[in-house]
Amino acid sequence: MTGKAGKMRVFVTRQIPQVGLDMLEEHFEVTVNPYDRVLTEEELIEGVTDAHGLLCLLTDAITSKVMDASPYLKVISNYAVGYNNIDVAAATQRGIPVTNTPGVLTDATADLAWALIMSVGRRIVEGDTYTRKGRFVGWGPMLLLGGAVAGKTLGIVGMGRIGQAVARRATGFDMPILYHDVERVHSVEELYNARYVSLDELLETSDFVTLHAPLTDGTKHMVGKRELGMMKKTAYLINTARGPLVDEQALVEALREGVIAGAGLDVYEDEPKLATGLAELPNTVLLPHLGSATLETRSKMAEMAASNVIAALRGETPPNLVEV
Ligand code: DGY
Repeated sequence: MTGKAGKMRVFVTRQIPQVGLDMLEEHFEVTVNPYDRVLTEEELIEGVTDAHGLLCLLTDAITSKVMDASPYLKVISNYAVGYNNIDVAAATQRGIPVTNTPGVLTDATADLAWALIMSVGRRIVEGDTYTRKGRFVGWGPMLLLGGAVAGKTLGIVGMGRIGQAVARRATGFDMPILYHDVERVHSVEELYNARYVSLDELLETSDFVTLHAPLTDGTKHMVGKRELGMMKKTAYLINTARGPLVDEQALVEALREGVIAGAGLDVYEDEPKLATGLAELPNTVLLPHLGSATLETRSKMAEMAASNVIAALRGETPPNLVEV
């Protein structure tokens, strides 16, 4: 069933940069969630009803129930590189292609991982608060001492596009790089002098451990009490990937008890909620999932997500099909 003027219908679950909406509106009848918030499952189902295309966000759980709201649904285009919010198996069963936005957010996310490395290591946020509160009364030899970054060992878990961009930046800080992934990536070993090690060795040896793995059944809680206990007392954990990679309550305990020195987090296990006690810990820097949050990146993501919808509804293979 087509919409007004015989056009196919596309439902967009939240306002995205206009460039993507303009692309869609050239071809389709487009409906955008009118509220500046995540839709409930009921509202999502209502929006998808009789739609041909769905452009959704990482905050939308795209279940089989949502997919079945429209017998015409021909594409689920996620406005994110990660797609753990979509039941891809159910989509595949129904012959609905799922797409994502890889590549365009690599640099923005790697930059943010570095912002967290620097800010948690060098106590930037604590220092800013201290200064604003008028507590800075003069230079002090022991004032807000942090951990050095240059020359320290960086452990990268997940050597995909973003992990590699983080490694590239580390070369400017003269950091020995260790990495762990399901497979070795020989090119990065040569380019950045990175050494492939087991996850345990990486945890035991690194001064900064930064996570860049996708969230799957196999990676959920890959960093829990045992793994935190293996890290150096002086080490920091950085997560800009997905919250459930880390057992957040175990992390709170580890930070509270000085098992590790600090954590820089952009993502949370039960987003947007934080584990009890996390917000009270001074040795953390906590961001509201800003990895791809630059004007440039979000616009490119909008173009990419729209291109995926357009290709699929033209009957072509969308450029960024998720591999199952
Ligand atoms: C993604 O794309 O998966 C990020 O987490 C959001 O930008």
